[in-house]
Amino acid sequence: MKKIALTGIKPTGIPHIGNYLGMIQPALELVHNYTALYFIADYHALTTIREPGNLKDLTYQVAATWLALGLDPDRVAFYRQSDIPEVFELTWILSCFTPKGLLNRAHAYKAAVEANTIAGKSADFDIHSGLFNYPVLMAADILLFGAHIVPVGLDQKQHVEIVRDIAESINNVYGKLLIPPESRIQRDVKTIPGVDGRKMSKNYANTIPIFDSPANIRKRIMRIVTDSKRPEDSKNPDTCNIFGIYRYFASAKTVEQTRKRYLEGGLAYSDIKTELFDLLQAKFGKAAKRYQQIFSDHRHIDRILNQGAEKARSLAVANLKKIRRKIGIES
Ligand code: TRP
Repeated sequence: MKKIALTGIKPTGIPHIGNYLGMIQPALELVHNYTALYFIADYHALTTIREPGNLKDLTYQVAATWLALGLDPDRVAFYRQSDIPEVFELTWILSCFTPKGLLNRAHAYKAAVEANTIAGKSADFDIHSGLFNYPVLMAADILLFGAHIVPVGLDQKQHVEIVRDIAESINNVYGKLLIPPESRIQRDVKTIPGVDGRKMSKNYANTIPIFDSPANIRKRIMRIVTDSKRPEDSKNPDTCNIFGIYRYFASAKTVEQTRKRYLEGGLAYSDIKTELFDLLQAKFGKAAKRYQQIFSDHRHIDRILNQGAEKARSLAVANLKKIRRKIGIES
């Protein structure tokens, strides 16, 4: 039996090349050696998105992105979280074993509390319990299916650790009931710079989308912040935000050559920006056409996600039954 790889994609923004490198690409590779369950975490998105049309749109955009990039729905169970009711039943069960203090320490909640404290407001001002319980829902996503590995970006590492803790606190009571999962983090893409030089993140509005019109992508690339060295100056590739992206898309040989061109001088930042644009077009240009086609057919996406939900649910129902029996809800 193959081991299970599972991951969730939160539809809160248009997928960008940082998402691609950090999580989409590695997840697509795992499909060959694992039973893969990949889902759209729409109920996690509800912690921040309150505009119904927007949530729907983003769900289709994210689904179309994965499909255009090669996710094969015959091979992977690709589904909406909200289509698996068992997830939400398990969320309650798990919450009864989750120390509150564990959730107090989760980064997102802690950051919200700190922001309030700095602003002189009461600690929990404007924080809803969906944000607080976010990791428990994530634990249910993962533990329901007995996932062994969870490919995620570095920002999700703590969440997966919390999930392990939750699994272990249940196992302490009932024996080996749940499988503590391991996160699989693409080590060498920890920090892909955004156009402003901070980590590429939708929270900073500094992203380069995977699929957009060539004109818009070019515009984003031209905005990448650099120092003010002239073309003839020698430049440091390792502190350059353009190079910080470029190195993941060019071949190893080209990366080495470009590194030399930086050091030698004679390279204009505008030239390397154009080269980066060409690399991204070569990488994603064809898929961008597929993306447009797929995205324009919402019914087709619905069919794929419904099929995925059917596959996932057969596993979910069986696993939840085991858990219900073990805890004394079902005989
Ligand atoms: N929290 C993840 C993110 O923001 C999304 C997610 C939800 C997830 N459930 C998951 C990831 C389960 C991995 C496994 O990106």
